[in-house]
Amino acid sequence: MRTLQDRVKEDGVVIDEKILKVDSFLNHQIDAKLMYEVGQVIIDHFSDKKITKILTIEASGIAPAIMASLHLDVPCLFAKKAKPSTMTSEYYHTDIHSFTKNTTSTVVIAKQFLNEDDHVLIIDDFLANGEASLGLHRLVKAANATTSGIGIVIEKSFQPGREKLESEGLEVLSLCQVSSLLGNKVKLVGE
Ligand code: G4P
Repeated sequence: MRTLQDRVKEDGVVIDEKILKVDSFLNHQIDAKLMYEVGQVIIDHFSDKKITKILTIEASGIAPAIMASLHLDVPCLFAKKAKPSTMTSEYYHTDIHSFTKNTTSTVVIAKQFLNEDDHVLIIDDFLANGEASLGLHRLVKAANATTSGIGIVIEKSFQPGREKLESEGLEVLSLCQVSSLLGNKVKLVGE
């Protein structure tokens, strides 16, 4: 997606050779118009899949996910990174380890919002090691629902996320693929 790729090149700040900061449009301040376009491109790609629900994880996945759900007119469900005291009903849970942050969180979704008839499109902001998407896929499987695909805003192709997801048989679409952050420079796949 050209507008997104241009924005990543213009606004992305290389923190180190593995981390790209995109706080001006995705991870802190949100460019709603850009996210609206991101949502459209993702749902267009998966238009043959009869998606019934969008699933993401708080916090930064919510912006692109909610835009996709708006275009598709299906609910947007987000996994919570801690079980809130208000979640009194039954819930699915799984542990997700972040190699980037070196933390493990037990993420939860209430059982009432996912069932075996659901065809789920997982959306997230970054694909790095694939742990968040794999964790969300485990929650989908726990509900006997189907993961129809994975839509990612920014993929870091030099990390193994895509490989892990594809080896699970999942189709991955990413709208901007970063091939390297070496030398303080954002290099995209194809450049
Ligand atoms: P993975 O899901 O692909 O395995 O990624 P990983 O655990 O390594 O990443 C954990 C968190 O760090 C996620 O956010 C992910 O979106 C974010 N992240 C990974 N690589 C980058 C990067 O290069 N730049 C930025 N800005 N974020 C990155 P999170 O902990 O869920 O935080 P948030 O969604 O609440 O912002």
